[in-house]
Amino acid sequence: MCGIVGCIGNEKALNYLIGGLHRLEYRGYDSAGVVTIGKKGATLIRAKGKVAELEALTDKKPSLDTIGIGHTRWATHGEPSVINAHPHQAGDIYLVHNGIIENYKELKAELKNHKFVSQTDTEVLAALINSFYDAKTGLVDAVTQALQLVVGTYGIAVVSVRNPDEIVAARSGSPLIIGVGDNEIYVASDAAALIGYTTQAIYLNDGEIAVCSRDGVQLRDLSAQPISAKVETIDADMQAIQKQGYDHFLLKEICEQPRTLSSTLSGRVNVKENLVRLGGLNLSIEELSEIEHVTIIGCGTAYYAGLLGSYYLEQLVDDLTIDVVAASELRYRSFHLPKNTVALVISQSGETADTLACLREIKRRGVKTLGIINAVGSTIAREVDGGVYVHAGPEISVASTKAFTSQVSAITMFGIQLAQAKGMGKQDTTRFIKELAQLPNEIELVIKKQQSKIAKIAKKYAHYDHALYFGRDTLYPVALEGALKLKEISYIQAEGYAAGELKHGPIALVDDKFFEVALILDNWLFDKSLSTLCEVNARGGHVLVITNSKKAIEAEEIIRIDTSLDILAPVVINVVQQLFAYYVAVARGNDVDQPRNLAKSVTVE
Ligand code: F6R
Repeated sequence: MCGIVGCIGNEKALNYLIGGLHRLEYRGYDSAGVVTIGKKGATLIRAKGKVAELEALTDKKPSLDTIGIGHTRWATHGEPSVINAHPHQAGDIYLVHNGIIENYKELKAELKNHKFVSQTDTEVLAALINSFYDAKTGLVDAVTQALQLVVGTYGIAVVSVRNPDEIVAARSGSPLIIGVGDNEIYVASDAAALIGYTTQAIYLNDGEIAVCSRDGVQLRDLSAQPISAKVETIDADMQAIQKQGYDHFLLKEICEQPRTLSSTLSGRVNVKENLVRLGGLNLSIEELSEIEHVTIIGCGTAYYAGLLGSYYLEQLVDDLTIDVVAASELRYRSFHLPKNTVALVISQSGETADTLACLREIKRRGVKTLGIINAVGSTIAREVDGGVYVHAGPEISVASTKAFTSQVSAITMFGIQLAQAKGMGKQDTTRFIKELAQLPNEIELVIKKQQSKIAKIAKKYAHYDHALYFGRDTLYPVALEGALKLKEISYIQAEGYAAGELKHGPIALVDDKFFEVALILDNWLFDKSLSTLCEVNARGGHVLVITNSKKAIEAEEIIRIDTSLDILAPVVINVVQQLFAYYVAVARGNDVDQPRNLAKSVTVE
């Protein structure tokens, strides 16, 4: 949440700042701002709304300055407005911030010399730093002293008119990366803003402060002690962060799933030898065989991926208990973890604040943690004991799609490896391995064959304001995910239910204002699913069925997917739902890549 950029070097800073903010816009798009520092002092430009609004203003005021910082905001304290937009100023200093200063009210009460103009917690931090900043105390020392008093989370970048050759950046709880270029140093909240500028980066850890100058980067901790920096290579290419001819990132990310899923499976699933090998688990076969309980945590789509994955884990491993909990809930519950537990931590961004907080609590209790993460080098990826990168590539659209498919597949691979380590159910693992290997092709087929039909059907349902999704067994988490995808990009109120629960309340909702999405698998539960469908039809429902069955089904509309998959067919059905939600949102004229009120990478609670 919130994108931060900064750069210092010999080139015009504004070019990088605006370009970087466009790349990070998915982290928030309520307002944007930049400040550059030059011979004539500071040039501060801020705009409400998207980075394009800011860019239009900077085009009228092109700056030649070679140092600057910028920000794209997802509002927490204070409405989206120019006055609340970052950078915030106090005296000579300018500050951009991602996170929440929890004790800002107490700090504000003490800062009597500053005339506050915004409603933000960030301005309080700017004023606090400024209160320490004088002839004796340089910028980095002022930042250090201020941060010692702060309770909360932050990724910050600070510049000053009095120190025009320095950016001070610091992190605690909100990600920050320092890019090390040939003659340029960059600051960014994620690697997307560095691609094409440098491949060398320092991932700041909590409690670290970076002093960036034209000569390089110096790191120190909060007690001003120097620390050594580890420079890592970022592995991402330009293509991955471009639309490549698609109308939207969302459509691109849905359609590239055959390829991104192949990357998830590559080198890990071996059909010939009937084996799965996940290199990064850091658990011996013996340690794996001792696992008795798996706790799965994540938020939103990652949580639903965990829920679907749990159905597969229980099919694969007999003597295993599993629970799946939304990280935002788990962190405040008095939960107990049985002995021999392993926690699976699911996150696309690897930065989600609730998931990270759970990870730290679980680790504190001495329980082994494994990450199922997409963003390489992210905080969660670095803090887990082991795990799996899903290698789905950058997910730019705010709604998560390809990550879900890869996360479910990664959990399934983990289940297979666990089952094999425990020496059980060879036959079952064979079925799973075969289906996993086929999955990319099956997804490709369904996109090719069904995309135009789905687009047509979506138009028919786009005028509704309410939707009910339902499915049984493995299709229950898929129904939850389908409803989430629809609501976040189309703004249609959509709820997912276990089909068997409909009669216990939700069926009361069925009327002409609703449409329903019934997910049906051609398996031992087919007749039961049909009964639920009949009950909804009988009450005048407007049902769209998505199924892999060729049998007779009565419904207003049916999308039949032609797949040879059995166990993993729900993953293919989910791709249909992704396309359906996309086309509904397009038909409603929405901004599908940056839906209102949302931001990717939820780094605040
Ligand atoms: C839904 C969506 C969110 C994320 C959730 C977790 O489309 O994008 O629900 O899934 O915020 O994010 P990560 O996976 O980055 O931890």
